[in-house]
Amino acid sequence: MIFILLTFLTAFLTWYFWAVGRRPKNFPPGPPGIPIFGNALQLGKYNYKTVLAFREKYGDIIGLRMGTHWTVYLNNPDDIREAFSKPEFSGRTGFHMLMDTTVEELNSGLAFSHGERYEHDDPQMQDLMQILDEFFDSIMKGIRPFYFIFPGLLRFKKILSFVSGDTSDKFRKRLFEFFGKVIEEHRRTMQVGQPRDFIDALLEESGKLRDFQEIDLYTTLMDLFIGGTETTSTTLVWSFFFLAQHPETQEKLANEILTVVGNRDVMLSDKLRLPYVEATILEIMRLSHIAPNAAPHAVTQDLIFKGFYLPKNTVVLPNFYAGLMSTEIWGDPDNFRPERFLTPDGKSLVRNKAWMPFGVGKRSCLGESLARDEIFLFLTNLVQQVRVSMPDDEPLHSFEGILNGGTLTPEPHRIIFNNRI
Ligand code: HEM
Repeated sequence: MIFILLTFLTAFLTWYFWAVGRRPKNFPPGPPGIPIFGNALQLGKYNYKTVLAFREKYGDIIGLRMGTHWTVYLNNPDDIREAFSKPEFSGRTGFHMLMDTTVEELNSGLAFSHGERYEHDDPQMQDLMQILDEFFDSIMKGIRPFYFIFPGLLRFKKILSFVSGDTSDKFRKRLFEFFGKVIEEHRRTMQVGQPRDFIDALLEESGKLRDFQEIDLYTTLMDLFIGGTETTSTTLVWSFFFLAQHPETQEKLANEILTVVGNRDVMLSDKLRLPYVEATILEIMRLSHIAPNAAPHAVTQDLIFKGFYLPKNTVVLPNFYAGLMSTEIWGDPDNFRPERFLTPDGKSLVRNKAWMPFGVGKRSCLGESLARDEIFLFLTNLVQQVRVSMPDDEPLHSFEGILNGGTLTPEPHRIIFNNRI
């Protein structure tokens, strides 16, 4: 009896993995995978680089099987623009790629600012920063990466979290408790027609929407926190990392700021008159490429793209890294050279279609303009006041970066800030 059962089970599993692993007809090409995992174990942590190696053999559009689902990597910036201009490419997978962080700049945040700022030693602020730190730290550990490969495991999340010691749900709960207090405070004090901030506006609008539920309020705030904190702070960390290693760029930046703006605070209205600053920010974001694969998209229906068949729910990953670091496009992509974004007279910006660190299309970054303004203001006002350098005994650091959760950060390093004047 046991023998028959085992034979039946083996036959069933063999059939199942054969059926699941069989590449759909006309699906984009890619390397063969192994049973159960497909190509998931071939990619490694730095998947955006691994797929570039596959591109040599299979072309710009690569199809892989990641556990139970099919995934397509788009490596050509033109293909990414074309695909993401179509609504069918704007689905999301059920599970979000979350990031790990230390968060410093929340006190000027979108959701919680109503004219006043939280001081760094404000207990509420410190509580929030600690929860966020711990939350981000926990989200890509233990069992969690497996959910990307086998989303079906999410059905057993409670038990798996318990067994693997996954703590991210605990921190999410604490974060939601924090949001709960702030939302209640807003509800109590808001006046209809006079929104003080994003939460007031959201509360007011939510009253008009029939399908809107309380949980939507929490997840919207969560999206903004996750999308908007680590990303901007990491970009600023990269900024000082690059500038400390490129004093000549730093001096040009400072000269432009001091000549055009002088010693008063730099404001957003100065932006258009500071092309070198703008070019430097574009170059910082190109070379740091903090979100090399963005967040996974999913196609919402069966479709044909560039002659390839993509079944509904195929995960689509734009490989921004391929465009941002392409030798064909930039000539010397590994060099930090803001001048590449300027006309020869240095007066105007030169745009490049491969520059898309915020993504493109309907699902591109919701916070792009806020992030660009924040980076501009922090960078200019700091460079105006201080000179950044590395200690003499600091080893040379590569610009490759380290992938922490979803974002790429510089290698740990020391920085010295000296007053400019
Ligand atoms: C340097 C800073 C930032 C970078 C590089 C960045 C990059 C990105 C990227 C690559 C995506 C995914 C695009 C796609 O899937 O095609 C994204 C999505 C998103 N970002 Fe940002 N982001 C930054 C700052 C911010 C800020 C400040 C906020 C909010 C305050 C924010 C909120 C979001 C949200 C909510 C999404 C999801 C949009 C959607 O699914 O429709 N991001 N971001």
